[in-house]
Amino acid sequence: MGTLDSRLDGRLDNKVALVTGIGAGMGTGIARAYAEAGATVVGADIDEGAGRAVMDTLGGPHRFVRGDVAQVAECEGLVADVVAGNGRIDVLVNNAGVTKSLGFFDVTEADWDRIYSVNARGLFFLMQAAARAMREQGGGRIVNIASIAGKGYRGTSNVAYAGTKGAVIAMTRISASQLARFGINVNSICPGVTRTALFEQVIGELIERTGVTREQAEANAVKSIPLRRANDPEDIAALAVYLASDAARNVTGQSWNVDGGLQWD
Ligand SMILES: NC(=O)c1ccc[n+]([C@@H]2O[C@H](COP(=O)([O-])OP(=O)(O)OC[C@H]3O[C@@H](n4cnc5c(N)ncnc54)[C@H](O)[C@@H]3O)[C@@H](O)[C@H]2O)c1
Repeated sequence: MGTLDSRLDGRLDNKVALVTGIGAGMGTGIARAYAEAGATVVGADIDEGAGRAVMDTLGGPHRFVRGDVAQVAECEGLVADVVAGNGRIDVLVNNAGVTKSLGFFDVTEADWDRIYSVNARGLFFLMQAAARAMREQGGGRIVNIASIAGKGYRGTSNVAYAGTKGAVIAMTRISASQLARFGINVNSICPGVTRTALFEQVIGELIERTGVTREQAEANAVKSIPLRRANDPEDIAALAVYLASDAARNVTGQSWNVDGGLQWD
């Protein structure tokens, strides 16, 4: 029996990571966990006040950069900023995402465009910009935050959102296959119900839209989870650390559920 290779300790020392959507929820949890695991974190968010406040709690060498991932030029600008300021980009975590609680017949063109521009288009163009730099460096890691909505979870916020997350899962596979020869691993995490600002927003909209009480809405969200608990952001961050670490060097193209057993693959 061999001993575990010392490089496979799950640490992120000396890695430079760009994490999007760090101003709240999972992004905050991932930025903190990456900093604790030894990475240098460049945290991006469209919300400058919230983003700076989170990155200030981490202190140097970590830093905030403002960016709207719905703008392709800003996706390219974010990666250029990391490479100029930190010399390289080892890890991209595509976490920023938006949604809204909507019934099938209520989804508008504006809803569709907004949700796709962030969750699918922005995510792809950030992967493309980061992968260009990683190809030059000889490798890197991309971690996309998808959702069990992309695998058909019936409790999702709306059909367009589910479509963006299915797109993330498909793009993760194809990107993994097309970037493997450059030493770039691409994986997704599919969170289930997770207690974040977005969760609070969607529960509030659901209450307004359907008239259920807060107690019912929260109980409904949790009662079908076999382990009977919603995620905290740290549950997602733990897998995001693993996927960026050398321990996951031979893992690519996968989309991992973290959901208390809610959705089989
Ligand atoms: N919360 C859940 O139950 C849940 C479940 C499955 C998947 N997800 C996914 O997890 C990811 C994080 O969700 P969360 O619940 O932490 O959300 P959140 O709303 O709590 O935080 C998202 C952060 O992203 C930022 N952001 C939004 N649009 C942006 C843009 N265009 N450019 C840059 N930053 C932007 C926001 O300002 C915010 O700080 C999203 O991709 C979401 O779809 C969430």
